[in-house]
Amino acid sequence: MTEEGETVMSESSFLYEGKAKKIYPTDDPNVVRVEYKDDATAFNGEKKGSVPGKGELNNRISALLFTYLGKRGIPHHFIRTLSATEQLVKRVNILPVEVVVRNRVAGSLARRLGLKEGSLCPSPLVEFYYKNDERGDPLITEDHIALMELASREQIRQMRERALQVNELLIELMTEKGVDLIDFKLEFGQDENGKLLLADEISPDTCRFWDRGTGKKLDKDRFRHSLGGVEDAYYEIWTRLGGEDRV
Ligand code: TMP
Ligand code: ASP
Repeated sequence: MTEEGETVMSESSFLYEGKAKKIYPTDDPNVVRVEYKDDATAFNGEKKGSVPGKGELNNRISALLFTYLGKRGIPHHFIRTLSATEQLVKRVNILPVEVVVRNRVAGSLARRLGLKEGSLCPSPLVEFYYKNDERGDPLITEDHIALMELASREQIRQMRERALQVNELLIELMTEKGVDLIDFKLEFGQDENGKLLLADEISPDTCRFWDRGTGKKLDKDRFRHSLGGVEDAYYEIWTRLGGEDRV
């Protein structure tokens, strides 16, 4: 789940390479360039592959969703799209916590508790995971976050509150497009002034989207479970969102 990467000092090279993105420095120390890759991994890197066109689609979908959320009051890191696969974002220190919101049972929640995939959660669930590849990104409680000083109590409160706001806003948007938002993962970072910003990406790599009519999965589960048609599914999300650029 985490994007454990390499750090290099050379200016001409990247600062950090994750599983699906590379981060490069820019002339402005508070801005970095993100390059979205076609690479895909699942199950903590156990399954590896490449999905042609995924980098471009995720770059564009993420830009669109951050812009949408920003207009509705969610502070975030996105600045602007640079090219088909690249965007500029504010440099932040990512908190080592992944925040997952769930509206229906799927994935690890179904596996961990033996619940039926697709069952509706009576109200949205918020979960925290510790970003630590070695330990397989364990589910943790707010007290664990405080114990390990991964984030302050105030930051935990803000992450929960904002994650639920993002959920409401994304549900509103996706429902209009005939898509059910099953769950998603967010990451937050602190800017140079200590302000908490929504960061990383929001895309079919980090969300579960099911077609409202057919229940068809339009997200990374197609890759995780070798269902085929991964790029088509991502493209479907992009076009439903009104995406127009040629991809
Ligand atoms: P999970 O059911 O596997 O815990 O996933 C919950 C949500 O988080 C789902 O929308 C996919 C997303 N997610 C990531 O973005 N990165 C990850 O590494 C994992 C495991 C899940
Ligand atoms: N991207 C994650 C990994 O490779 C897992 C996932 O999204 O399922 O660990």
